[in-house]
Amino acid sequence: MVVLGWVLGLALGFLVVCSGLLRWNEVRFRKKGLPPGTMGWPLFGETTEFLKQGPSFMKNQRLRYGSLFKSHILGCPTVVCMDPELNRFILMNEGKGFVPGYPQSMLDILGKCNIAAIHGSLHKAMRSVMLGLINPPVIKDQLLPKIDEFMRSHLSSWSGRIIDIQEKTKEMALLSALKQIASIENGPLSEALKTEIFQLVLGTLSLPINLPGTNYHRAFQARKKLVGMLRDIIEGRRASQCSYNDMLDSLLKNDNTTKVKLTDDQIIDLIIALVYSGYETVSTTSMMAVKYLHDHPRALEEIRNEHLKIREGKSAKDAIDWNDYKSMSFTRAVIFETLRIATVVNGVLRKTTQEVEMKGFVIPKGWRIYVCTREINYDPFLYPDPLTFNPWRWLEKNLESHQHFMMFGGGCRLCPGKELGIAEIATFLHHFVTRYRWEEVGGDKILKFPRVEAPNGLHIRVWDY
Ligand code: HEM
Repeated sequence: MVVLGWVLGLALGFLVVCSGLLRWNEVRFRKKGLPPGTMGWPLFGETTEFLKQGPSFMKNQRLRYGSLFKSHILGCPTVVCMDPELNRFILMNEGKGFVPGYPQSMLDILGKCNIAAIHGSLHKAMRSVMLGLINPPVIKDQLLPKIDEFMRSHLSSWSGRIIDIQEKTKEMALLSALKQIASIENGPLSEALKTEIFQLVLGTLSLPINLPGTNYHRAFQARKKLVGMLRDIIEGRRASQCSYNDMLDSLLKNDNTTKVKLTDDQIIDLIIALVYSGYETVSTTSMMAVKYLHDHPRALEEIRNEHLKIREGKSAKDAIDWNDYKSMSFTRAVIFETLRIATVVNGVLRKTTQEVEMKGFVIPKGWRIYVCTREINYDPFLYPDPLTFNPWRWLEKNLESHQHFMMFGGGCRLCPGKELGIAEIATFLHHFVTRYRWEEVGGDKILKFPRVEAPNGLHIRVWDY
């Protein structure tokens, strides 16, 4: 009886403390004009619910509070915006106080000149340099032949084997970027860079605790090594008389053709940004396209026909060219449908630099805004029967130009690598579907949140087509 009394007393005490803490956290962030919502626990907020329940946490909160609600996630007071109009407004109006709001861990590791860490005139300058490196004419004349050459060799000798397509597409995105940026071919240097870059990527989504053994600490060390290696490559280039005709050559060119001159530190952070931004998006979309094509034989047949037609009149060694790439309308549709249904990008983060008013609510300065673009991917008005993989929908309507098409962001941060990313995935699919048949080995799980990944890999058995 006494024990029961103690247990009940403890439980009651615990409940009182918990509700006291929750209440304290609500009061702490109470401010007139804020959108409705809950702030969760002191320090942790609602991060656990957000990471565990993911999209269903968002949906439930939206049902209770509407499409603009407050929360406390990933260490920051945050306003979650699930209203497509408002999301567009935020992306289009960086100048009105909505700068990128990525976690400190990410900014620390990607460098202080990283494109996501800067805004205003420096952002404009870095972005224009970047666009000069990866715009459609450059893709057409310089990058597409390199991508084609890379894909041929990366996809060689898969026949008769079981491969982990997740691992292969990750390597593909990274090694293809290294080839385009600094003509780095497969070998000891690319292996050394790969090790550091994989480590760096892991640390960008971690708690910023710089203690040995943490992902953040390891990523910091990886950044140091990576910066050292890139500096050596830059010095080697300056000492050499050779011309490489790659992105690094353009960045180091000391003539008047480029309007903006970057420092070596800026060049290094720009290279890291290029590798980092294209790595996960391109690899995940490629992996998921393989998965959806496997599960939808009619789509596979149509995409294969599109690519076999391109090969007609070409010898096995002939590379695809810009006209071939432009003719891949079904492939482009498959890529968009994959991005949509897998939700490779859930949203983007912004931070307010001043108090801003939205829909009658007031967001204080310094709050984070989670521009959640995920829900629009499943809007039945825009995408009828939204849970069905249906690439043909992209051919019927010009959905790519729709104002709510935000898979590549929008406004002055619209993805500069959009066309390059699509060209890489399309070239990968070209070689994959024309050379191979495949089936899943089975049993591999795919997680969709917080990032799309197969925790134990996605294994497929591959044969010659
Ligand atoms: C399927 C492929 C891709 C998808 C879905 C994608 C998606 C996005 C999105 C949603 C943003 C907006 C981020 C924001 O507003 O904060 C973005 C920005 C960016 N992307 Fe991509 N991306 C892809 C491929 C690439 C590639 C291949 C590169 C580089 C070669 C790249 C480089 C960048 C850079 C540098 C930014 C930042 C732009 C800025 O802040 O001005 N992306 N991307």
